[in-house]
Amino acid sequence: MSKRKILVTSALPYANGPIHLGHVLEAVQTDIWVRFQKMRGEHCIYVCADDAHGTAIMLRAENEGISPEQLIDKVKADHKSAYDGFLIDFDNFHSTHSEENRHLSATVYKALRANNRIAVRNITQLYDPEKGLFLADRFVKGSCPKCKADDQYGDNCEVCGATYSPNDLINPRSTLSGATPVQRESEHYFFKLPEFTDMLKAWTRSGTLQEQVANKLSEWLDAGLQEWDISRDAPYFGFEIPDTTGKYFYVWLDAPIGYMASFLNFCDRTGTSFADYWAPDSSAELYHFIGKDIINFHALFWPAMLTDAGYRTPTAVFAHGFMTVNGKKMSKSRGTFINGHTYLRHLHPEYLRYFLASRLGNGVEDLDLNLEEFVNKVNSDLVGKLVNIASRCAGFITRGFDGVLGAQLAAPELVTECQAAGDEIAQAYEQREYQRAIRQIMMLADRANQSIAEQAPWTLAKQNPQDPQVQAICTTGINLFRLLMTYLKPVLPAMAIKAEKFMNVPALRWSCASEILLSHKINHFEALMTRVEQASVDAMLAEAAADVEKNSQKSAAEPSTPVIESPLAMEPVINEIDYSDFAKVDLRVALIVEAAYVEGADKLLQLTLDLGADAQGQPVRRNVFSGIRSAYQPEELKGRLTVMVANLKPRKMKFGMSEGMVLAAGPGGKDIWLLSPDQGAKPGMRII
Ligand code: MSP
Ligand code: ZN
Repeated sequence: MSKRKILVTSALPYANGPIHLGHVLEAVQTDIWVRFQKMRGEHCIYVCADDAHGTAIMLRAENEGISPEQLIDKVKADHKSAYDGFLIDFDNFHSTHSEENRHLSATVYKALRANNRIAVRNITQLYDPEKGLFLADRFVKGSCPKCKADDQYGDNCEVCGATYSPNDLINPRSTLSGATPVQRESEHYFFKLPEFTDMLKAWTRSGTLQEQVANKLSEWLDAGLQEWDISRDAPYFGFEIPDTTGKYFYVWLDAPIGYMASFLNFCDRTGTSFADYWAPDSSAELYHFIGKDIINFHALFWPAMLTDAGYRTPTAVFAHGFMTVNGKKMSKSRGTFINGHTYLRHLHPEYLRYFLASRLGNGVEDLDLNLEEFVNKVNSDLVGKLVNIASRCAGFITRGFDGVLGAQLAAPELVTECQAAGDEIAQAYEQREYQRAIRQIMMLADRANQSIAEQAPWTLAKQNPQDPQVQAICTTGINLFRLLMTYLKPVLPAMAIKAEKFMNVPALRWSCASEILLSHKINHFEALMTRVEQASVDAMLAEAAADVEKNSQKSAAEPSTPVIESPLAMEPVINEIDYSDFAKVDLRVALIVEAAYVEGADKLLQLTLDLGADAQGQPVRRNVFSGIRSAYQPEELKGRLTVMVANLKPRKMKFGMSEGMVLAAGPGGKDIWLLSPDQGAKPGMRII
């Protein structure tokens, strides 16, 4: 089969701020997809760049006493190192302030102008008389003309999603000086977007967009498109529009062209053909990964510009939702975001890559980084399940068999099953359903662990460390681990490299899943991943909160009275629920009538709970599995009262039905305390 030619982009991060975890979400989503394609042997190129233009950058440079060029160079290095830290494997990372982009932007513009798609006319705009500047949309705030929401930016409303011109804002003010802007006239250049209405109606419905996105765009298209203002007056940091003086391309005109420019830079470095990817009849695939806030730029202006200027349009635009942290919106103006570097100073990048993968689907829903779930997910899946397979098996192979795997598998059917799952997992990656891929991989990991536990090589090895059965069991284990690691490599590239070294195999590709490792010498096992420590998460949050303080003090380009809600460093992390959620929980006093160990479960005790009698006088008994074995002997529990959630829907567990939950508290281990009601309590009493 011939290789697919694929060009992939992530949105270009603004050079006026650091890379934060929202950017990381997008880059990780893209990077996983790209790494997957590369592992499959497709020809896939991933480019990105800094979005370096605009008033914000000009003002920040002014504020720092350096030139915009110096500022964007510094920021680019900082962005690149943050992306590197998260193992984002760009083939090229460029800047929109580049010769390639200057050239391509002029070329595109001239083509549009030659096709009579550019209108020139005077408009009246808001002007900051104190700063001596026309006010870019982001620097005017006021009330939304549509829904009247307060404190909205000049270009769109975060409350109702309306887009409008800053002139339409109610009670506008300059966020630079606080002055009330005045109206001033100047000549502007417009792209005649309405002329592309039919083209866009067809394009947005041709499988290029997610359904939710296409539906949203239909609304906009039906409401009627407006001409798009693509010029800004000096002073502005950007490219001067050809054949004008003092008129600059609006940052959003040359930003998407920055994708092409970064790719052109890549082509020049590597001898790749630019036209192969951008000519109207190109057979290459082109995908843009973006956030849901910038859909109109990518699915309206961009395809219209491309078509008209004689280039191909994107194969698809993949929009994702926003990251929230512990259920709260990340927002620059409120300072509620965690910088990439801040994260990296405390935590391993693959923890986040894995957590994101385990939550990402192909829709536009927001994704919550709940840090408690983050810690649990990573520790239980990666350390408890995945690494566990290898670490349990490796020692026996090293000690008993000189590091050589057996010639036979103990459970070939399990290995076959794991191999057979590869297609479905691949399909999930291809469709950006990472969550589904991870779920399936972890199910296989559970099976692998279970099978090893059942065969208990440690028991056999005690009798005879050279028992061939021990070798066969552990050979199976290592092979299962190898398959799972292959499937996870797009998500965990650094761990995969360590695993390759341990297994003494060349770089894993997707097709490696069809092979089996037998009679093969492996290396000493070294820890592939360590547990996430809650203390590291706490330290990161504390630093992020300190960042917010620091930034608010030095950021003069921000609104003069920034609202600082100390959003993240609430320790311990408590997620609020509504009263109505709380009211649903039926807490009852329960008498523990029986308590017993559970065969094969080292954390659980099986409890029989008495909840008194029902209306007919019949005794109400519940069977509950509770993870308190490390702290209690069954004997000590019999006859004790505790508190249980009595209306929890019964859950099927590996060992049987669990029909409720007892309440306990503590850090774990020996220190878990069952909640004990007062002596006067009677089984079945409601806790109020
Ligand atoms: N410079 C423009 C993009 C130009 S693309 C030709 C821009 N920059 S940005 O820095 O604001 O955002 C870059 C990307 O990060 C966008 O796709 C945006 O949606 C995404 N995200 C920014 N904050 C985000 C979250 N909190 N969560 C997830 N993605 C977010 O827009
Ligand atoms: Zn609104």
